[in-house]
Parts: sequence; structure tokens; C-alpha cells
Amino acid sequence: MAKPTAAAAIHAGGHERWGSKLGVILAVAGSAVGLGNFLRFPVQAAQNGGGAFMIPYFLALIFLGIPLAVVEWTIGRHGGMHGHNTAAGAFSAMWPWRGAKYLGLLGVFGPWVIFLYYTYIESWTLAFSYFSLAGLLGQAREQAAMTGFLQAFQGLSPNAIFPHIGTAYFFFLLTFAVNLLVVAGGIQKGIEFVSKVFLPLLFLFAFVLAVRVFWIGAPDPARPDWHVVNGLGYLWNPNLSVLGSSRVWLAAAGQVLFTLSVGIGAIVTYASYLRRDDDVALSSLTAVGTNEFAEVILGGCLVIPAAFAFFGPEQLAAIAKGGAFNLGFVTMPLVLGQLSWGQLFGCLWFLLLFLAGITSSISLAQPVIAFFQNVYGWRRARAVAVFGAVSFVLSQPAILWLGRGALDEMDFWGGTVCLVVFGLLEVLLFAWVFGMERGWREIHHSSDIRLPGFFRWVIAYATPAYLLFVLGFWLYDNAKTTISMAGVDAANRPYVIGVRWMLIGLLLVMALTMR
Ligand code: ALA
Repeated sequence: MAKPTAAAAIHAGGHERWGSKLGVILAVAGSAVGLGNFLRFPVQAAQNGGGAFMIPYFLALIFLGIPLAVVEWTIGRHGGMHGHNTAAGAFSAMWPWRGAKYLGLLGVFGPWVIFLYYTYIESWTLAFSYFSLAGLLGQAREQAAMTGFLQAFQGLSPNAIFPHIGTAYFFFLLTFAVNLLVVAGGIQKGIEFVSKVFLPLLFLFAFVLAVRVFWIGAPDPARPDWHVVNGLGYLWNPNLSVLGSSRVWLAAAGQVLFTLSVGIGAIVTYASYLRRDDDVALSSLTAVGTNEFAEVILGGCLVIPAAFAFFGPEQLAAIAKGGAFNLGFVTMPLVLGQLSWGQLFGCLWFLLLFLAGITSSISLAQPVIAFFQNVYGWRRARAVAVFGAVSFVLSQPAILWLGRGALDEMDFWGGTVCLVVFGLLEVLLFAWVFGMERGWREIHHSSDIRLPGFFRWVIAYATPAYLLFVLGFWLYDNAKTTISMAGVDAANRPYVIGVRWMLIGLLLVMALTMR
């Protein structure tokens, strides 16, 4: 086969398009609705002031989430018109400076890093849906036993059921293969098809589970106040005193970016498969609205009220401190296991998480596939094969060094730092290099609605200022301890350093091989 010329290489893969407007909205909403909605959000809200958390949350939604979503859809469509399907290409289409594509590379590297550990967590949900159905989870009747089950499964403390990590590995391979299969199908036949089937199914499962949770009422007659409705109160009653803490404001900003999948690069890639005259203004807002419904309404109705009804406020506070995985993989199966048809509801819960996970992880894979297609001129099959092989190797630390902090380290750089930095770069590029005047026209090209003029000001000033504040605060408060690994156990440091070198190596290889 003849080697593609640089120009042809830039355009390889650039001809693909979404089949329908609904398809792209569901795909972007699918990218947004993920484990973050059903596990991360309720825990963040419960730990950061309950109803009061919603004040910084909604402010972050208006000043960060919505503007970044609109900007990413617009940058993506613009890049697609120039044959670019990644943030790296889209940046160079907006800014004729040679270095622009290197800044955009963060929108390919970031999602790749998240993919490396996200698929492993996603595979736990598939495994646990099987364990629920097979009645294996029902054997553990309290927190300690279920925690032991989870840790044995993860290979952290083997026992008779899981003498080694083999089962977890099997489900990882299965989940990994399903992800590759979907992206190998391409934009329409893979990603769009799966999003159209899985997202409605996900909403159906979440709705059924929410109804079942409300049906629980107060399960212990001796404790009528442990009622699901009071569980909602636990989540939503505002504790306004927390608003003085910058930690709460940072948590809200981080949650909004993560849940909407903005600042990642995934939406830029998805939007690049739009046609020139496809709307971006209404579509981006629709995807945001769908995610918020899934997060605030459905996400808020599941784990916290259910756990409250069975464990009461004191234990729930301790459980929530243990983090999102504790609530999702330990507490929730215990609660559902006590209901009639518990096996089935347990299975439904983990399938819900699996559907939420896979529609997000495919959106993390696609920017890298598009990078291989656009930059190296590879066909999709080859791009997927190389992506699969390299990702498989690079995801090993997240699996094998889980207890050594490898997954947390990858999540920190890929799922937190890259989001804020890339979000800042793209909004500055859009408003101040491409120009707000042109940008505003570009947003409204063939749009189905006009955004309020207020957002013009938000995009130009408020969003960059908000992100600069978040970044500045982190640099001031945390950067030194994080970089010097002050909070990391001495025994785990070599592993964390290993992960860091791996990530630096990956970024360097991508940058040096970019044409
Ligand atoms: N937006 C995705 C989630 O919430 C990554 O999990």
C-alpha cells in the first residue's frame, strides 16, 4: 500500500459523519452520563454540604460546564470542516501557529489516560452484575464481608472465592474487547448505534431502580425515621456553613467538568463528525440537560436514599467517607440484596453502571483512534488494533498496582489536571485567539436557538477566570505535596513514579511522532 501523503494523512478518517441529530446528541450525552453521575456525584454532594453543594455546583454549571460544552461542540465542528477529528488538529485549524497542535494534544492524551483506568472500573460493574445474578453477592451480609469480597476480586486480599486476580482480569478483557469492538464499528455503525440503544436502556434501568428505592420506605419498623424520604433530606438539606470552604467550590467545579465530559477532548472529537450546517447551540445544551437530569434527579435518588434507609445517617456518613466505590460496590449490593428480587435489582444496578460506563469509555477511545487516523494516516482497523495493543499494556499498572495508588495517580493527572488545563486552553483559544466575534458567529452558524448574549461575556471572561482560579488554587494549595508525593506511602512511591514516567513517555511519543 502506498504511504499516504501528509495532506491525505490529515484527512484520513475525516469523511465519517453522524447518521442523525438524535444520534450525536445521544452519543455526547452517553459520554457525559457515566460512573460520575451515579457514584461520584451523590458522594460529592453528601460530603460537601448536601443541598448547599448545589449552589457552587449550579454556578460551576453556568460559568464552566455550559460554556465549555458549547465551545467544544463549536471547536469540534470547525475542526471537522478542515478534516481534523482531534483537538490537536482543531486547534491548528483555529490558530495558524506551529505550536497550537501541541497544546491540543492534551485533548487526546487526557482521554487516553482516563480510558486506561476507566475501562478497568467499568469491568468491575460487568463482573458484579454477573455476581449479583449468580447469587454470589447475596452471601455477604454486612459491610466488612462485602468489602472483603470486593478486595479479593480486585486481587488485593485473595480468599477462597478469588485466590488470584484471574476473574477480574477475565472481566477486564471482556470489557476491553467490547469497547474495541464498538469503536472498530466506526462513528455510525459503532458509537452511534450503541449510544442509541444503550442510553435509553440506561434511563429505563435508572428509573426502575429509583421507583424500587422509593418503594423501600422505612424498612426497619423500629426506626421509622430511617425512611428514604429522609434520605433525600440527608442529601439535599443545605448546610450553608460549608460555602466558606474553597474545597467545596473546587469539588463542585471538578464534578461539573468530569460529569459533562468537558475539558477532556472527547466532545471536540465527537463534534468533528458533524456537518457544517448541523446545529451546535441547541444540541450542546440538550446533551448538558440530559446529563444533569441523569445526575441530579436520577443519581440523587439511588445510592444515598437507599443506603440511608438501611444504615441510617451515622453509618451512611462513615460509608460516604469511604468514597464512591464503597457506596456503589459494597453498600448498594448489600441494600439491594435485602429486597425481594434482590439478585435481579443488584444485577440491574451494575448493568446500569456498565451502560453508563461503556458509553463514556468509547468516547475516551475515539479521540485516540481519530489521532491515529488523522496524523498517521491509518485506516480505522489498524488504528483500533494499535490503540488496543498499546492501551492493553499501559492499563496494566491500574490493574496490577491498584493497591499501590497507580489508578489514583492516573485519575489525578488524566481525570483532574488535564481537564482543567485543557479546558482553560480551549476557552482562551476560542475567545482570545480565534476571537469572540468570530466564535459567537460560529456558535450560531445554522443554530436552532440563539444563546443569551450573557454567555458571550461568560466565555470571554468568566470561564477563563474560573478555571484560572481553580488551577491557581491547586498550585498554591496542593501542587508541591502532590508533585513531591508527600501524601504517598514510601512503599508505594516507586509505583507512583513508574506511572508518572509511563505517562510522560506516552505524551512524548505522541508529541514527537506528530506531523
Ligand atoms: N462523564 C463521564 C462520567 O461522568 C466521564 O463518568
